Amino acid sequence: MATPTSPAFLLLLLHVFLFLLCSSKKGHTVSANRTTKNHFHNVHANSLLPSSVCDQSNKVLNRASSLKVVSKYGPCSVTGDPKTFPSAAEIVLQDELRVKSIRTRLSMASRTTGALDEKKTTIPSTRYGGYTVAVGLGTPKKDFSLIFDTGSDLTWTQCEPCLGGCFPQKDEKFDPTKSTSYKNLSCLSEPCKSIAKESIQRCSSGTCLYGVQYGSGYTVGFLATETLTITPSDVFENFVIGCGEKNDGKFSGEAGLLGLGRSSIALPSQTSSKYKNLFSYCLPASSSSTGHLSFGGEVSNAAKFTPITTKFKEFYGLDVAGISVGGRKLAIDASVFRTGGTVIDSGTTLTYLPSTAYSALSSAFQEMMKKYTLTNGTSGIQPCYDFSKHANDPITIPKISIFFEGGVEVDIDVSGIMLAVNGLEEVCLAFRDNRNDKDIAIFGNLQQKTYEVVYDVAKGMVGFAPGGC
Ligand SMILES: *[C@@H]1O[C@H](CO)[C@@H](O)[C@H](O)[C@H]1NC(C)=O
Ligand SMILES: *[C@@H]1O[C@H](CO)[C@@H](O)[C@H](O)[C@H]1NC(C)=O
Ligand SMILES: *[C@@H]1O[C@H](CO)[C@@H](O)[C@H](O)[C@H]1NC(C)=O
Repeated sequence: MATPTSPAFLLLLLHVFLFLLCSSKKGHTVSANRTTKNHFHNVHANSLLPSSVCDQSNKVLNRASSLKVVSKYGPCSVTGDPKTFPSAAEIVLQDELRVKSIRTRLSMASRTTGALDEKKTTIPSTRYGGYTVAVGLGTPKKDFSLIFDTGSDLTWTQCEPCLGGCFPQKDEKFDPTKSTSYKNLSCLSEPCKSIAKESIQRCSSGTCLYGVQYGSGYTVGFLATETLTITPSDVFENFVIGCGEKNDGKFSGEAGLLGLGRSSIALPSQTSSKYKNLFSYCLPASSSSTGHLSFGGEVSNAAKFTPITTKFKEFYGLDVAGISVGGRKLAIDASVFRTGGTVIDSGTTLTYLPSTAYSALSSAFQEMMKKYTLTNGTSGIQPCYDFSKHANDPITIPKISIFFEGGVEVDIDVSGIMLAVNGLEEVCLAFRDNRNDKDIAIFGNLQQKTYEVVYDVAKGMVGFAPGGC
Protein backbone atom coordinates (compact mmCIF):
# COMPACT_ATOMS: atom_id res chain seq x y z
CA MET A 1 0.00 0.00 0.00
CA ALA A 2 1.26 3.43 -0.90
CA THR A 3 0.94 5.46 2.26
CA PRO A 4 2.19 9.05 2.27
CA THR A 5 5.43 7.97 3.96
CA SER A 6 6.24 4.82 2.03
CA PRO A 7 8.95 4.48 -0.59
CA ALA A 8 6.29 3.11 -2.93
CA PHE A 9 4.45 6.40 -2.65
CA LEU A 10 7.59 8.30 -3.55
CA LEU A 11 8.20 6.04 -6.47
CA LEU A 12 4.70 6.81 -7.63
CA LEU A 13 5.46 10.54 -7.35
CA LEU A 14 8.63 10.13 -9.33
CA HIS A 15 6.64 8.46 -12.08
CA VAL A 16 3.97 11.12 -12.04
CA PHE A 17 6.74 13.69 -12.22
CA LEU A 18 8.36 11.92 -15.15
CA PHE A 19 4.99 11.90 -16.86
CA LEU A 20 4.54 15.62 -16.23
CA LEU A 21 8.02 16.22 -17.50
CA CYS A 22 7.38 14.39 -20.74
CA SER A 23 3.98 15.93 -21.34
CA SER A 24 5.34 19.40 -20.60
CA LYS A 25 7.96 19.15 -23.30
CA LYS A 26 5.38 20.26 -25.80
CA GLY A 27 4.73 23.52 -24.12
CA HIS A 28 7.39 23.62 -21.75
CA THR A 29 12.74 34.72 24.71
CA VAL A 30 14.24 37.42 25.86
CA SER A 31 17.33 35.84 27.50
CA ALA A 32 16.58 34.73 31.03
CA ASN A 33 18.16 36.05 34.23
CA ARG A 34 20.85 33.46 34.51
CA THR A 35 21.92 34.28 38.05
CA THR A 36 22.46 30.89 39.56
CA LYS A 37 22.43 29.84 43.15
CA ASN A 38 24.13 26.50 43.56
CA HIS A 39 22.43 24.07 41.28
CA PHE A 40 19.39 26.10 40.34
CA HIS A 41 18.44 28.64 37.70
CA ASN A 42 16.71 31.66 39.19
CA VAL A 43 14.61 33.16 36.46
CA HIS A 44 11.71 35.50 36.18
CA ALA A 45 8.73 33.52 35.01
CA ASN A 46 8.09 36.07 32.27
CA SER A 47 11.50 35.36 30.79
CA LEU A 48 10.21 31.91 29.86
CA LEU A 49 7.78 33.51 27.43
CA PRO A 50 8.69 34.42 23.84
CA SER A 51 9.71 38.01 23.22
CA SER A 52 8.52 40.15 20.33
CA VAL A 53 11.77 41.99 19.61
CA CYS A 54 14.65 40.56 17.59
CA ASP A 55 17.97 40.97 19.35
CA GLN A 56 20.84 40.29 16.91
CA SER A 57 23.84 38.43 18.21
CA ASN A 58 27.11 39.93 17.00
CA LYS A 59 29.20 36.78 17.43
CA VAL A 60 28.43 35.83 13.87
CA LEU A 61 30.30 38.88 12.63
CA ASN A 62 33.55 37.83 14.27
CA ARG A 63 34.00 34.66 12.28
CA ALA A 64 35.30 34.07 8.80
CA SER A 65 32.82 31.59 7.35
CA SER A 66 29.67 32.18 9.32
CA LEU A 67 26.04 32.43 8.45
CA LYS A 68 23.43 33.97 10.68
CA VAL A 69 21.03 31.41 12.13
CA VAL A 70 17.47 32.39 12.86
CA SER A 71 14.56 30.40 14.18
CA LYS A 72 11.82 29.76 11.65
CA TYR A 73 9.48 31.48 14.06
CA GLY A 74 9.54 34.59 16.15
CA PRO A 75 10.62 38.17 15.57
CA CYS A 76 13.92 37.28 13.84
CA SER A 77 12.30 35.00 11.26
CA VAL A 78 13.00 36.04 7.69
CA THR A 79 10.60 33.67 6.02
CA GLY A 80 7.63 33.13 8.30
CA ASP A 81 5.18 35.38 10.05
CA PRO A 82 7.16 36.91 12.94
CA LYS A 83 4.10 36.81 15.18
CA THR A 84 3.20 33.18 14.60
CA PHE A 85 4.48 30.52 16.93
CA PRO A 86 3.63 26.87 16.58
CA SER A 87 1.48 25.42 19.33
CA ALA A 88 3.08 22.88 21.63
CA ALA A 89 0.75 20.24 20.24
CA GLU A 90 2.13 20.98 16.77
CA ILE A 91 5.71 20.80 18.06
CA VAL A 92 4.96 17.44 19.62
CA LEU A 93 3.29 16.13 16.47
CA GLN A 94 6.08 17.22 14.13
CA ASP A 95 8.70 15.95 16.55
CA GLU A 96 7.00 12.57 16.67
CA LEU A 97 6.97 12.36 12.87
CA ARG A 98 10.64 13.20 12.76
CA VAL A 99 11.62 10.77 15.52
CA LYS A 100 9.61 8.06 13.79
CA SER A 101 11.36 8.70 10.48
CA ILE A 102 14.79 8.63 12.15
CA ARG A 103 13.92 5.25 13.66
CA THR A 104 12.55 3.94 10.37
CA ARG A 105 15.64 5.04 8.47
CA LEU A 106 17.89 3.30 10.98
CA SER A 107 15.90 0.10 11.10
CA MET A 108 15.79 -0.04 7.28
CA ALA A 109 19.52 0.64 7.00
CA SER A 110 20.37 -2.12 9.44
CA ARG A 111 18.46 -4.62 7.32
CA THR A 112 20.87 -6.29 4.96
CA THR A 113 18.42 -8.11 2.75
CA GLY A 114 15.31 -6.96 0.95
CA ALA A 115 14.48 -5.26 -2.29
CA LEU A 116 16.54 -2.19 -3.13
CA ASP A 117 13.61 0.18 -2.93
CA GLU A 118 12.69 -1.10 0.48
CA LYS A 119 15.86 0.33 1.92
CA LYS A 120 15.14 3.76 0.57
CA THR A 121 13.21 5.39 3.23
CA THR A 122 12.09 8.52 4.89
CA ILE A 123 14.55 11.17 5.90
CA PRO A 124 13.56 13.37 8.78
CA SER A 125 12.47 16.93 8.24
CA THR A 126 10.42 19.15 10.39
CA ARG A 127 8.58 22.37 10.26
CA TYR A 128 8.79 23.27 13.89
CA GLY A 129 11.83 24.23 15.84
CA GLY A 130 13.79 24.42 12.61
CA TYR A 131 16.56 26.94 11.99
CA THR A 132 17.36 28.71 8.77
CA VAL A 133 20.39 30.26 7.10
CA ALA A 134 20.66 32.15 3.81
CA VAL A 135 23.06 30.87 1.14
CA GLY A 136 23.67 31.95 -2.43
CA LEU A 137 23.01 29.76 -5.45
CA GLY A 138 23.69 30.26 -9.14
CA THR A 139 25.43 32.78 -11.36
CA PRO A 140 24.54 35.54 -10.86
CA LYS A 141 24.06 34.56 -7.24
CA LYS A 142 20.64 34.69 -5.62
CA ASP A 143 20.06 34.16 -1.89
CA PHE A 144 17.80 31.47 -0.54
CA SER A 145 16.68 30.71 3.01
CA LEU A 146 17.24 27.03 3.71
CA ILE A 147 16.59 24.97 6.81
CA PHE A 148 19.83 23.37 7.89
CA ASP A 149 19.54 19.78 8.90
CA THR A 150 22.13 17.46 10.42
CA GLY A 151 19.72 14.57 9.79
CA SER A 152 19.67 14.78 5.98
CA ASP A 153 22.24 14.82 3.20
CA LEU A 154 21.03 16.41 -0.02
CA THR A 155 20.91 20.19 -0.29
CA TRP A 156 17.95 21.15 -2.45
CA THR A 157 15.79 24.07 -3.39
CA GLN A 158 12.48 24.40 -5.16
CA CYS A 159 13.06 24.97 -8.88
CA GLU A 160 11.10 26.62 -11.63
CA PRO A 161 9.04 25.61 -13.52
CA CYS A 162 7.70 23.61 -10.53
CA LEU A 163 6.10 21.15 -12.94
CA GLY A 164 4.80 18.89 -10.22
CA GLY A 165 3.91 21.65 -7.79
CA CYS A 166 5.83 23.67 -5.21
CA PHE A 167 4.89 24.95 -1.77
CA PRO A 168 4.83 28.71 -1.12
CA GLN A 169 8.21 30.25 -0.36
CA LYS A 170 9.31 33.75 0.51
CA ASP A 171 12.26 34.16 -1.88
CA GLU A 172 11.65 33.99 -5.61
CA LYS A 173 12.09 30.37 -6.68
CA PHE A 174 15.35 29.26 -8.21
CA ASP A 175 15.23 29.29 -12.00
CA PRO A 176 17.99 27.18 -13.56
CA THR A 177 17.54 28.86 -16.94
CA LYS A 178 18.63 32.17 -15.38
CA SER A 179 21.90 30.78 -14.04
CA THR A 180 24.93 30.26 -16.27
CA SER A 181 26.51 27.78 -13.84
CA TYR A 182 23.62 25.30 -13.56
CA LYS A 183 24.25 21.84 -15.03
CA ASN A 184 22.09 18.72 -14.93
CA LEU A 185 23.95 15.63 -13.77
CA SER A 186 23.97 12.55 -15.94
CA CYS A 187 22.83 9.17 -14.72
CA LEU A 188 26.41 7.96 -14.98
CA SER A 189 27.79 10.57 -12.59
CA GLU A 190 29.07 9.59 -9.12
CA PRO A 191 26.58 11.81 -7.22
CA CYS A 192 23.75 10.15 -9.14
CA LYS A 193 25.01 6.72 -8.12
CA SER A 194 25.37 7.95 -4.58
CA ILE A 195 21.79 9.31 -4.44
CA ALA A 196 20.63 5.98 -5.84
CA LYS A 197 22.05 4.30 -2.75
CA GLU A 198 20.17 6.40 -0.23
CA SER A 199 17.09 7.69 -2.05
CA ILE A 200 15.05 6.98 -5.11
CA GLN A 201 16.66 7.68 -8.45
CA ARG A 202 15.49 7.43 -12.07
CA CYS A 203 16.76 8.53 -15.46
CA SER A 204 15.15 10.69 -18.11
CA SER A 205 17.11 10.64 -21.38
CA GLY A 206 20.33 10.16 -19.44
CA THR A 207 19.57 12.96 -16.94
CA CYS A 208 19.55 12.03 -13.25
CA LEU A 209 16.26 12.41 -11.38
CA TYR A 210 16.07 12.06 -7.63
CA GLY A 211 13.29 11.65 -5.09
CA VAL A 212 13.70 12.11 -1.35
CA GLN A 213 10.93 11.38 1.10
CA TYR A 214 10.85 13.25 4.42
CA GLY A 215 8.93 12.67 7.64
CA SER A 216 6.39 15.19 6.38
CA GLY A 217 6.97 15.86 2.71
CA TYR A 218 9.08 15.05 -0.32
CA THR A 219 11.15 16.59 -3.08
CA VAL A 220 11.45 15.22 -6.60
CA GLY A 221 13.51 16.77 -9.38
CA PHE A 222 16.84 16.95 -11.17
CA LEU A 223 20.17 16.22 -9.59
CA ALA A 224 22.39 19.07 -10.70
CA THR A 225 25.55 20.98 -9.97
CA GLU A 226 25.48 24.65 -9.22
CA THR A 227 27.68 27.32 -7.67
CA LEU A 228 27.09 27.56 -3.92
CA THR A 229 28.10 30.80 -2.20
CA ILE A 230 28.46 30.57 1.57
CA THR A 231 30.27 33.90 1.95
CA PRO A 232 31.83 36.16 -0.70
CA SER A 233 35.17 34.38 -0.21
CA ASP A 234 33.71 30.87 0.13
CA VAL A 235 32.32 29.95 -3.27
CA PHE A 236 31.97 26.31 -4.32
CA GLU A 237 31.61 25.52 -7.99
CA ASN A 238 29.93 22.30 -9.11
CA PHE A 239 28.22 21.78 -5.78
CA VAL A 240 25.67 18.97 -6.03
CA ILE A 241 22.11 20.12 -5.37
CA GLY A 242 18.61 18.86 -5.91
CA CYS A 243 16.57 21.09 -8.21
CA GLY A 244 13.13 20.13 -6.94
CA GLU A 245 10.25 20.58 -9.34
CA LYS A 246 7.75 18.60 -7.31
CA ASN A 247 7.88 19.36 -3.62
CA ASP A 248 5.70 19.28 -0.59
CA GLY A 249 6.34 19.61 3.10
CA LYS A 250 5.76 21.52 6.27
CA PHE A 251 7.77 24.52 5.25
CA SER A 252 6.95 28.05 6.26
CA GLY A 253 8.45 30.15 3.50
CA GLU A 254 11.88 28.53 3.27
CA ALA A 255 13.19 27.50 -0.15
CA GLY A 256 14.49 24.04 0.77
CA LEU A 257 17.10 22.28 2.89
CA LEU A 258 20.82 22.51 3.55
CA GLY A 259 22.00 18.93 4.19
CA LEU A 260 24.63 18.67 6.92
CA GLY A 261 24.51 14.87 7.20
CA ARG A 262 27.24 12.30 6.78
CA SER A 263 27.03 11.03 3.20
CA SER A 264 29.28 12.03 0.31
CA ILE A 265 26.61 14.35 -1.11
CA ALA A 266 26.11 16.20 2.18
CA LEU A 267 27.64 19.66 2.51
CA PRO A 268 30.47 18.79 4.94
CA SER A 269 31.81 16.17 2.54
CA GLN A 270 31.35 18.30 -0.59
CA THR A 271 33.20 21.26 0.93
CA SER A 272 35.85 19.26 2.78
CA SER A 273 38.76 20.59 0.70
CA LYS A 274 38.18 24.01 2.22
CA TYR A 275 36.44 23.32 5.52
CA LYS A 276 38.09 20.01 6.45
CA ASN A 277 34.77 18.43 7.39
CA LEU A 278 34.32 20.83 10.27
CA PHE A 279 31.26 22.89 11.06
CA SER A 280 29.59 24.29 14.14
CA TYR A 281 26.43 26.08 15.07
CA CYS A 282 24.95 27.94 17.96
CA LEU A 283 21.19 27.96 18.37
CA PRO A 284 20.03 31.09 20.19
CA ALA A 285 18.36 30.90 23.63
CA SER A 286 15.15 32.30 22.20
CA SER A 287 13.59 32.82 18.83
CA SER A 288 14.07 36.54 19.43
CA SER A 289 17.83 36.28 19.13
CA THR A 290 20.17 34.97 16.45
CA GLY A 291 22.90 32.35 16.33
CA HIS A 292 25.40 31.19 13.74
CA LEU A 293 26.33 28.29 11.49
CA SER A 294 30.07 28.34 10.83
CA PHE A 295 32.32 26.28 8.60
CA GLY A 296 35.97 25.34 8.94
CA GLY A 297 38.39 27.52 10.86
CA GLU A 298 39.75 27.04 14.34
CA VAL A 299 37.98 24.99 16.97
CA SER A 300 37.10 26.97 20.07
CA ASN A 301 39.42 26.21 23.01
CA ALA A 302 36.37 26.08 25.23
CA ALA A 303 34.90 23.09 23.37
CA LYS A 304 34.90 19.71 25.14
CA PHE A 305 34.69 16.74 22.78
CA THR A 306 32.90 13.41 22.79
CA PRO A 307 33.37 10.75 20.08
CA ILE A 308 30.83 10.24 17.29
CA THR A 309 29.78 6.62 17.79
CA THR A 310 30.13 4.03 15.08
CA LYS A 311 26.62 2.78 15.83
CA PHE A 312 24.92 4.81 13.09
CA LYS A 313 26.30 5.80 9.73
CA GLU A 314 23.39 8.04 8.74
CA PHE A 315 23.31 10.22 11.84
CA TYR A 316 25.66 11.78 14.36
CA GLY A 317 25.49 9.33 17.26
CA LEU A 318 26.83 10.23 20.70
CA ASP A 319 27.19 8.21 23.91
CA VAL A 320 25.30 9.63 26.86
CA ALA A 321 26.97 8.76 30.16
CA GLY A 322 24.52 10.23 32.63
CA ILE A 323 22.16 13.01 33.69
CA SER A 324 22.16 15.28 36.71
CA VAL A 325 19.29 17.31 38.13
CA GLY A 326 19.86 20.09 40.65
CA GLY A 327 23.45 18.93 41.02
CA ARG A 328 22.36 15.38 41.83
CA LYS A 329 23.60 12.66 39.48
CA LEU A 330 20.72 10.31 38.70
CA ALA A 331 21.25 6.63 39.38
CA ILE A 332 20.80 5.32 35.85
CA ASP A 333 22.83 2.35 34.66
CA ALA A 334 25.02 3.32 31.69
CA SER A 335 23.64 0.36 29.75
CA VAL A 336 20.28 2.17 29.59
CA PHE A 337 21.82 4.74 27.23
CA ARG A 338 23.91 2.22 25.34
CA THR A 339 21.03 -0.04 24.31
CA GLY A 340 19.32 2.17 21.74
CA GLY A 341 22.06 4.74 21.41
CA THR A 342 21.61 8.51 21.08
CA VAL A 343 21.63 10.81 18.07
CA ILE A 344 22.24 14.56 18.21
CA ASP A 345 19.82 16.26 15.84
CA SER A 346 19.34 19.86 14.73
CA GLY A 347 15.75 19.28 13.68
CA THR A 348 14.09 17.48 16.62
CA THR A 349 12.88 20.02 19.14
CA LEU A 350 12.61 18.11 22.42
CA THR A 351 14.99 15.53 23.88
CA TYR A 352 13.79 11.92 23.84
CA LEU A 353 15.15 9.63 26.55
CA PRO A 354 14.92 5.91 27.27
CA SER A 355 12.02 5.30 29.71
CA THR A 356 14.26 4.37 32.61
CA ALA A 357 16.23 7.60 32.25
CA TYR A 358 13.16 9.73 31.65
CA SER A 359 11.42 8.38 34.75
CA ALA A 360 14.43 9.09 36.94
CA LEU A 361 14.74 12.61 35.50
CA SER A 362 11.05 13.36 35.79
CA SER A 363 10.76 12.19 39.43
CA ALA A 364 13.88 14.04 40.58
CA PHE A 365 12.69 17.17 38.77
CA GLN A 366 9.20 16.99 40.32
CA GLU A 367 10.70 16.43 43.75
CA MET A 368 12.71 19.67 43.41
CA MET A 369 9.77 21.60 41.94
CA LYS A 370 7.33 20.65 44.72
CA LYS A 371 6.57 24.23 45.68
CA TYR A 372 5.02 24.94 42.29
CA THR A 373 1.58 23.89 41.15
CA LEU A 374 1.54 20.85 38.87
CA THR A 375 -0.97 21.07 36.08
CA ASN A 376 -2.19 18.48 33.64
CA GLY A 377 -0.49 18.99 30.32
CA THR A 378 -2.59 19.52 27.21
CA SER A 379 0.18 18.79 24.70
CA GLY A 380 1.52 15.39 25.68
CA ILE A 381 4.58 16.91 27.37
CA GLN A 382 4.89 16.17 31.11
CA PRO A 383 5.28 17.31 33.90
CA CYS A 384 3.83 20.83 33.56
CA TYR A 385 3.59 23.69 36.06
CA ASP A 386 1.24 26.61 36.44
CA PHE A 387 3.42 29.67 37.00
CA SER A 388 0.64 32.20 36.38
CA LYS A 389 0.68 33.31 40.02
CA HIS A 390 4.43 33.88 39.82
CA ALA A 391 4.55 36.23 36.85
CA ASN A 392 6.61 38.75 38.79
CA ASP A 393 8.54 36.41 41.09
CA PRO A 394 11.80 34.71 40.49
CA ILE A 395 11.32 31.00 39.85
CA THR A 396 13.84 28.41 40.96
CA ILE A 397 14.38 25.67 38.41
CA PRO A 398 16.84 22.82 39.02
CA LYS A 399 19.72 22.74 36.57
CA ILE A 400 19.88 19.76 34.27
CA SER A 401 23.14 18.50 32.82
CA ILE A 402 23.63 15.79 30.24
CA PHE A 403 26.98 14.03 30.44
CA PHE A 404 28.57 12.55 27.34
CA GLU A 405 31.34 10.01 27.05
CA GLY A 406 34.74 11.62 27.58
CA GLY A 407 33.73 13.70 30.60
CA VAL A 408 31.70 16.24 28.63
CA GLU A 409 29.02 18.06 30.61
CA VAL A 410 26.32 20.02 28.81
CA ASP A 411 24.67 22.29 31.35
CA ILE A 412 21.34 22.89 29.67
CA ASP A 413 20.19 26.47 29.32
CA VAL A 414 16.93 27.19 31.12
CA SER A 415 15.31 27.67 27.69
CA GLY A 416 16.03 23.97 27.11
CA ILE A 417 14.61 22.83 30.44
CA MET A 418 11.22 24.48 30.47
CA LEU A 419 8.95 25.08 27.51
CA ALA A 420 6.04 27.53 27.84
CA VAL A 421 3.26 25.52 26.26
CA ASN A 422 0.38 27.81 27.10
CA GLY A 423 1.59 31.13 28.50
CA LEU A 424 2.62 30.83 32.15
CA GLU A 425 -0.33 28.57 32.90
CA GLU A 426 1.40 25.55 31.46
CA VAL A 427 5.19 25.42 31.44
CA CYS A 428 6.54 21.92 30.90
CA LEU A 429 9.74 19.95 31.24
CA ALA A 430 11.12 19.84 27.68
CA PHE A 431 12.03 16.15 27.72
CA ARG A 432 10.05 13.17 26.52
CA ASP A 433 9.75 9.52 27.32
CA ASN A 434 10.72 7.07 24.55
CA ARG A 435 8.43 4.56 26.28
CA ASN A 436 10.81 1.83 25.21
CA ASP A 437 14.38 1.48 26.43
CA LYS A 438 15.40 -0.09 23.12
CA ASP A 439 14.42 2.92 21.00
CA ILE A 440 17.01 5.43 19.93
CA ALA A 441 17.32 8.52 22.14
CA ILE A 442 17.53 11.99 20.56
CA PHE A 443 19.37 15.01 21.88
CA GLY A 444 17.07 17.71 20.58
CA ASN A 445 17.70 21.29 19.55
CA LEU A 446 16.08 22.99 22.57
CA GLN A 447 18.72 21.37 24.77
CA GLN A 448 21.58 22.44 22.47
CA LYS A 449 20.72 26.12 22.74
CA THR A 450 23.44 28.66 23.59
CA TYR A 451 26.25 26.11 23.18
CA GLU A 452 28.50 26.16 20.18
CA VAL A 453 28.10 22.60 18.94
CA VAL A 454 31.18 21.65 16.92
CA TYR A 455 31.04 18.78 14.43
CA ASP A 456 34.63 17.76 13.78
CA VAL A 457 33.64 15.03 11.37
CA ALA A 458 37.22 14.46 10.20
CA LYS A 459 38.28 13.61 13.76
CA GLY A 460 35.01 11.79 14.52
CA MET A 461 34.05 14.04 17.39
CA VAL A 462 31.33 16.44 18.48
CA GLY A 463 32.24 19.21 20.90
CA PHE A 464 30.31 21.61 23.09
CA ALA A 465 31.49 25.08 24.07
CA PRO A 466 29.30 27.19 26.39
CA GLY A 467 28.27 30.72 25.50
CA GLY A 468 28.35 30.14 21.75
CA CYS A 469 25.94 32.94 20.76
C1 LIG B 1 18.45 38.61 38.40
O1 LIG B 1 18.01 38.01 39.59
C2 LIG B 1 18.65 38.54 40.77
C3 LIG B 1 18.19 37.69 41.97
O2 LIG B 1 16.85 37.29 41.83
C4 LIG B 1 18.31 40.01 40.90
O3 LIG B 1 18.94 40.57 42.04
C5 LIG B 1 18.79 40.75 39.66
O4 LIG B 1 18.41 42.10 39.71
C6 LIG B 1 18.21 40.10 38.39
N1 LIG B 1 18.82 40.70 37.24
C7 LIG B 1 18.12 41.07 36.19
C8 LIG B 1 18.91 41.64 35.03
O5 LIG B 1 16.89 40.95 36.10
C1 LIG C 1 18.04 19.76 -17.48
O1 LIG C 1 17.16 18.70 -17.88
C2 LIG C 1 15.84 19.07 -18.17
C3 LIG C 1 15.04 17.83 -18.52
O2 LIG C 1 15.64 17.09 -19.51
C4 LIG C 1 15.81 20.08 -19.30
O3 LIG C 1 14.49 20.53 -19.48
C5 LIG C 1 16.71 21.26 -18.96
O4 LIG C 1 16.79 22.13 -20.04
C6 LIG C 1 18.11 20.78 -18.61
N1 LIG C 1 18.90 21.93 -18.18
C7 LIG C 1 20.12 22.14 -18.67
C8 LIG C 1 20.79 23.40 -18.22
O5 LIG C 1 20.69 21.36 -19.41
C1 LIG D 1 -5.26 15.60 36.05
O1 LIG D 1 -5.68 14.38 35.42
C2 LIG D 1 -5.96 13.36 36.35
C3 LIG D 1 -6.23 12.07 35.57
O2 LIG D 1 -6.95 12.32 34.41
C4 LIG D 1 -7.16 13.79 37.21
O3 LIG D 1 -7.47 12.76 38.14
C5 LIG D 1 -6.81 15.07 37.95
O4 LIG D 1 -7.91 15.54 38.66
C6 LIG D 1 -6.34 16.15 36.96
N1 LIG D 1 -5.82 17.28 37.73
C7 LIG D 1 -6.09 18.54 37.43
C8 LIG D 1 -5.42 19.57 38.29
O5 LIG D 1 -6.82 18.85 36.49
